[in-house]
Amino acid sequence: MRLIETEGLTKVYQREGRWFPSANDAMPVVDRVSLHVDKGETLGLVGESGSGKSTLARLLLGLETATEGHLLFGGEDVTRWGFKRLRTIRSRMQMVFQNSYSSFDPLFTVERIVGEPLSSYGGMAALERRRVILESLDMVGLEAPYAKRYPHELSGGQLQRVNIARALVLQPELLICDEPFSSLDFKLRRQILTLLEELKVRFGLSYLYITHDLSSVSRFCDRVAVMYKGQIVETLPAARIAEEAIHPYTRSLLDAVPVQDPRLRRSRTGRPFGEPALSQGERVTQGCRFCSRCPAAMPVCFTVEPVLETKRPSHQAACHFYANEAEGKASQTFQIVKE
Ligand SMILES: Nc1ncnc2c1ncn2[C@@H]1O[C@H](COP(=O)(O)OP(=O)(O)O)[C@@H](O)[C@H]1O
Ligand SMILES: [Mg+2]
Repeated sequence: MRLIETEGLTKVYQREGRWFPSANDAMPVVDRVSLHVDKGETLGLVGESGSGKSTLARLLLGLETATEGHLLFGGEDVTRWGFKRLRTIRSRMQMVFQNSYSSFDPLFTVERIVGEPLSSYGGMAALERRRVILESLDMVGLEAPYAKRYPHELSGGQLQRVNIARALVLQPELLICDEPFSSLDFKLRRQILTLLEELKVRFGLSYLYITHDLSSVSRFCDRVAVMYKGQIVETLPAARIAEEAIHPYTRSLLDAVPVQDPRLRRSRTGRPFGEPALSQGERVTQGCRFCSRCPAAMPVCFTVEPVLETKRPSHQAACHFYANEAEGKASQTFQIVKE
């Protein structure tokens, strides 16, 4: 069952105060994105910094309004709902933010931080409120005495647990985790991932897990969506990403993960995979957004924008190179750079 779904969701930011607006100024940050998260599912959203992942997350949460397209929650079109009406569904999805320490008020106790979302929904007696907060802390493995502490008294891992407790306090159905580990070391990442997995089983939660850490995706996610310059360029089952990903951008992300087939590292152009061929300031305005960086680019890639097509069951990619290939054998075909 679909929990949340987007259809052609688009966000364009108008830059103000520019004397000479250029075509680049109107480039959508989120560009015709159609994806969904099912109930109980974990969708990974990966892509380099600036690809529009956080903006997409804010659109899903109703913190930004879409320029075009539709957002459905529980099958209902909520795209044009006003801020007040959106509150009714906002409690059903919560965000776990990127940087723990800076997202907390240093003068607030853990109890007050975790209870914050409750305040905006009101109507809870003090005793009940305290019970709910302690329950949330317990879910993330923090005992009652932590409620009285301040952020500076906690470690990075504990802060991230507080972050998750705050997101859980309204008993949401969907947690959007935006790069939840960017400030944590490897061991803590594993611990928090395990915690998120437990919570998923216990409460039937769904996750949108935003990251650039591809190695955690195959372990933690059911499906993965790869975003490049505002567009989804590939979606596939997360467990098979290393073997079956075909989009050259996804392959380049995989290349950045250590222990990869070295034959995939360089294209025949001699350019390291994924390095821009354009100089700074230049931008592709037609065709495939990735063509200037793509070792497999063909003439058609510079003129015709590829659309997401089903390449296999549960596997979509937007790439001309694989348009006619029933079976994308990425590891072999990548050596071929068509002139
Ligand atoms: N409020 C805003 N106004 C104008 N541009 C924005 C705004 N928010 C984000 N952007 C731009 O949108 C692009 C995508 O940003 P973001 O969604 O944060 O990407 P990611 O999370 O993938 O790093 C960036 O180029 C960023 O500069
Ligand atoms: Mg971001």
